[in-house]
Amino acid sequence: MLVVVVQVRRMREEYGRLEKTEMGVWECIELLNEFIDDSDPDLEMPQIEHLLQTAEAIRKDYPDQDWLHLTGLIHDLGKVLLHPSFGQLPQWAVVGDTFPVGCAFDECNVHFKYFKENPDYRNPKLSTKFGAYSEGCGLDNVLMSWGHDDYMYLVAKENKIALPSAGLFIIRYHSFYPLHKHGAYTHLMNDEDKENLKWLHVFNKYDLYSKSNVRIDVEKVKPYYMSLIDKYFPAKLRW
Ligand SMILES: [Fe+2]
Ligand SMILES: [Fe+2]
Repeated sequence: MLVVVVQVRRMREEYGRLEKTEMGVWECIELLNEFIDDSDPDLEMPQIEHLLQTAEAIRKDYPDQDWLHLTGLIHDLGKVLLHPSFGQLPQWAVVGDTFPVGCAFDECNVHFKYFKENPDYRNPKLSTKFGAYSEGCGLDNVLMSWGHDDYMYLVAKENKIALPSAGLFIIRYHSFYPLHKHGAYTHLMNDEDKENLKWLHVFNKYDLYSKSNVRIDVEKVKPYYMSLIDKYFPAKLRW
């Protein structure tokens, strides 16, 4: 993860322009399928299986929340950052836990001791509890370490997709373990964030535990997901 505020801003600016390509959601799933997530050393699973397992497991337990099924399907599409046509970012800049930059790093962050090497750690303005932010400012206003979560959030937001705000919240914060696992950084949340966090807790169970060897018949479930994509997304998205 890129931890320095300036670097994160630069990545957001560059990728936020969405000038890389235009493609539909299913096209992106197929592109991503060429990759396996190195952060899951035990499971050599194509991404399409992980996405569909997550979505199908949610669908079984929450049949009426079709937006949540779709969120499950697309939550990791930001991993296309690993692809050569997206700059082939290294794994460490794409996957792994995320956290706010521009304020003190919470001790529950993985590898917390290494944050001392980060120049922001010694910047008095950026190393207090609130740093560049204020109490309850809302996570939307907080710069997060760069990775596949924030990229997909930008894609979803800029293409004005019709997902409810809880869906966007899940996309942006599903790797934000300090928040959803440890309850850190809640002082930056506003009321909407607190509501949305309930859905992230629901979602997270499926993101982790759906990674099993239950095989999914892709062709069988594809028509259902294509109908959701049609309902919520334009035919082509800018990436
Ligand atoms: Fe992810
Ligand atoms: Fe995932």
